Amino acid sequence: MKSILFVCLGNICRSPMAEGAVRKALDAAGLVHVTTDSAGTSGWHAGGPPDQQAIKAALMRDIDIAHRRARQVEQEDFHRFDMVLAMDGATYARLKTMQPEGSAAQIRMFMEFAGEVPVREVPDPYYGSEEGFEHALDLIELAARGLAAHIARASG
Ligand code: 4NP
Repeated sequence: MKSILFVCLGNICRSPMAEGAVRKALDAAGLVHVTTDSAGTSGWHAGGPPDQQAIKAALMRDIDIAHRRARQVEQEDFHRFDMVLAMDGATYARLKTMQPEGSAAQIRMFMEFAGEVPVREVPDPYYGSEEGFEHALDLIELAARGLAAHIARASG
């Protein structure tokens, strides 16, 4: 596993928080060679920074995403990344329809890596309150640990 792309709808809440959490877990495990990035199925916020609440909530957990800039998923991503991880079912379905022929990228749900937790999606916190971001980050950190362990096993 060399590269992972995290994808949500707007690329300003869930996917930058997930990328930041996984980046932190990978670096802590010495897996610095694995590259990570995030993108949105929409281009609504392209070029803009993450949501202010997302930046703040992530920073409270020592995850700095302030420097990230949103972008839309592009065809090239399906060739550049080994794994493309969706934050929810709608994103997963959209990615599946976008995947071009000849792309070997594995498209999966990010929450698959959270183990026994019976949750398959990271709920969209965009229209909600601070608790929404905390809940999303709780789930994200769980899956981030599982994903880092999965990669450590695969590369060990
Ligand atoms: P995200 O959240 O997909 O986690 O980045 C959203 C951000 C913006 C919008 C929807 C979801 N929006 O409709 O602009």
